[in-house]
Amino acid sequence: MKILAIETSCDDTCAALMEDDRVIRSIISSQTDLHARWGGVVPNLARRGHQENIGPVIQKALGAKTTEEAERKIGEVEVIAVTAGPGLAPALEVGVEEAKKLAKKYGKKLVAVNHVEGHILSNWVKNINGLPKRKFEFPLLALTVSGGHSKIVRVERDNEGGFRFETVGETLDDAGGEALDKAAKMLGLGYPGGPVMERLAKDGDKDFLKLPQPLADNNILNYSFSGLKTSFYYKIKDWPEEEINKNLFNLAASFQEAVIEMLVRKFRLAAVKYQPKMLTASGGVMANKELRRRLREMAKKLERKIYLPAKKELNTDNAAMIGVAGFYRAKGGRWVNEVDKLERQPRMDFER
Ligand code: KG4
Ligand code: ZN
Repeated sequence: MKILAIETSCDDTCAALMEDDRVIRSIISSQTDLHARWGGVVPNLARRGHQENIGPVIQKALGAKTTEEAERKIGEVEVIAVTAGPGLAPALEVGVEEAKKLAKKYGKKLVAVNHVEGHILSNWVKNINGLPKRKFEFPLLALTVSGGHSKIVRVERDNEGGFRFETVGETLDDAGGEALDKAAKMLGLGYPGGPVMERLAKDGDKDFLKLPQPLADNNILNYSFSGLKTSFYYKIKDWPEEEINKNLFNLAASFQEAVIEMLVRKFRLAAVKYQPKMLTASGGVMANKELRRRLREMAKKLERKIYLPAKKELNTDNAAMIGVAGFYRAKGGRWVNEVDKLERQPRMDFER
């Protein structure tokens, strides 16, 4: 089944051409530079960026050099998969409208994909430069953390060869990536903060600044990152700039450590409680090497296998993961029946 997948939920314009769950081509056009000077994603700027990029990105994903060639190649596509939510409304809208337009113009079937399901299923993407074959065992427990969400999800197979997702823990306020982005902003480090914090943290002392661990109660599987951010703010707010600059590495290391510690601790508690057959982790924050190392260490202690996205570009936003999620929805016949009625769903949740 040839699938064209489209993803525009935040600041990356993405399209991928898939054969079932295998990637033929995955294109990502990042708008980071557009938003960097504002210190975060500006929804209406994102919309404009997507509007400019979506056509060329889809053409590239189809492997076409001209519009005429793209028209011909889209004829071979059977299904169009698009992220319907959750995400920024003005950004989502561009992808959803483009998908509807293409589905109608070329008479294609349409599937609407949940972005978080996509992140979880990024571990299922096959064939990017010989990705090793993976074997999944259910029920499994998935951790997914990005700039927009932080969730611990129980994943089971459903009766149609797809999946059932049940959130067992999630953030009560900011997302893990958002916390790193905000802390980086406080330190004057620019956007997105996660990768910069990681680079600095490598050479810093993680015990330099003691930060609290909110929701310390072991019975709670939820996350809270806003308390961490506030405490960080109050600890450094009266420091002279030169003091902050002198300790940039240590401050980044201390904050990153508090985020990693919280992510791993609650995921471990959930694994002990739910006793899954195996674990997966994904989402933009999983690009962080120290976090990956700590999760592998944790899984080993629990004697559970853990899969993480094998390629860096499968952690952050991409359309290959939307293609895989779309493939499983299509297999189960979960089509959008009335194309005109599909709308972006900024607060979309898993289906019950
Ligand atoms: O999945 P993603 O590309 O977009 C959303 O759905 O939000 O995730 C972006 C988030 C940002 O908060 C960014 O700072 C964080 O992932 N991130 C990282 C790293 N690379 C990206 N966080 C920590 N370490 C990294 N290397
Ligand atoms: Zn994302």
